[in-house]
Amino acid sequence: MSVVSSAGNGKITVPSILERKSGVSSQNSAPAKITCLTAYDYPTARLLDEAGLDILLVGDSLGMVVLGYESTLPVTVEEMLHCTRAARRGTRHALLVADMPYGSYHDDPAEAVRHALRFVKEAGAEAVKIEGGERRMELIARIVEAEIPVMGHIGLTPQSVNAFGGFRVQGKTAEAGEQLLRDARAVEAAGAFSIVLESIPRELAARITAELRIPTIGIGAGPDCDGQVLVIHDLVGLSFGHKPKFARRYADVGEIISRAAAEYCRDVQQGSFPSDEESYHARPEKVGTLFAQRK
Ligand code: KIV
Repeated sequence: MSVVSSAGNGKITVPSILERKSGVSSQNSAPAKITCLTAYDYPTARLLDEAGLDILLVGDSLGMVVLGYESTLPVTVEEMLHCTRAARRGTRHALLVADMPYGSYHDDPAEAVRHALRFVKEAGAEAVKIEGGERRMELIARIVEAEIPVMGHIGLTPQSVNAFGGFRVQGKTAEAGEQLLRDARAVEAAGAFSIVLESIPRELAARITAELRIPTIGIGAGPDCDGQVLVIHDLVGLSFGHKPKFARRYADVGEIISRAAAEYCRDVQQGSFPSDEESYHARPEKVGTLFAQRK
């Protein structure tokens, strides 16, 4: 499965994302901010695509919000491919980016490139996302060399949760901030077309955004990035547990589902579901008295 992004039909492409870098627009006004949300299945991808999102990210956050794992670490390549294929079928306009899961790019670089190729060839991803800065430079360059656009990801990289000792804001000291600046520069130099900045101080995200030529996409990194990304389950109130302060909730779909399920149980138990109108009927001339109720 592969997609060909044809220019001129409103399809969001890697070059059109690069053009959205603040200050690089050919128009006089600042380019519109890049909008990105996660999507892991067909209906969600279709709804978000039709809502006009620029980028749909099949994030490995699906391990936590869909599969119920405590971190993203157990997510496999097969799970990511399965969800990317589903999201592909619902995506026409947005750029579809797939996360490379933990373990799929941490060992043999040739194997990492083979995994990245699978996301494009078998699942229709148009780019892959890789966590890490300086230490991923060579790998990002190799994947880009294989004609696969790469989105970087630095700051609170969830696949490093054990090394970080938890999901903690990163870059809060001068030294840590300097390292993140070096990481951002390295990801850009390696050929990435954009970079996610996760859970870092606003001021640091603004500095990185001002310095890089590629767009920055923030999550918990303040409003000065070139775009924003959120996990769709946080946005619509379908996630459980700790809610980070940047995860603005726009709807409470969890509450709607709970209420609908409780009403359904009540109607079944009271015998009001299904009604006669919600039932199929056979015509008497076809079945005679066969189905007549015996007294
Ligand atoms: O996995 C994910 O959903 C992500 C985003 C939160 C950036 O990496």
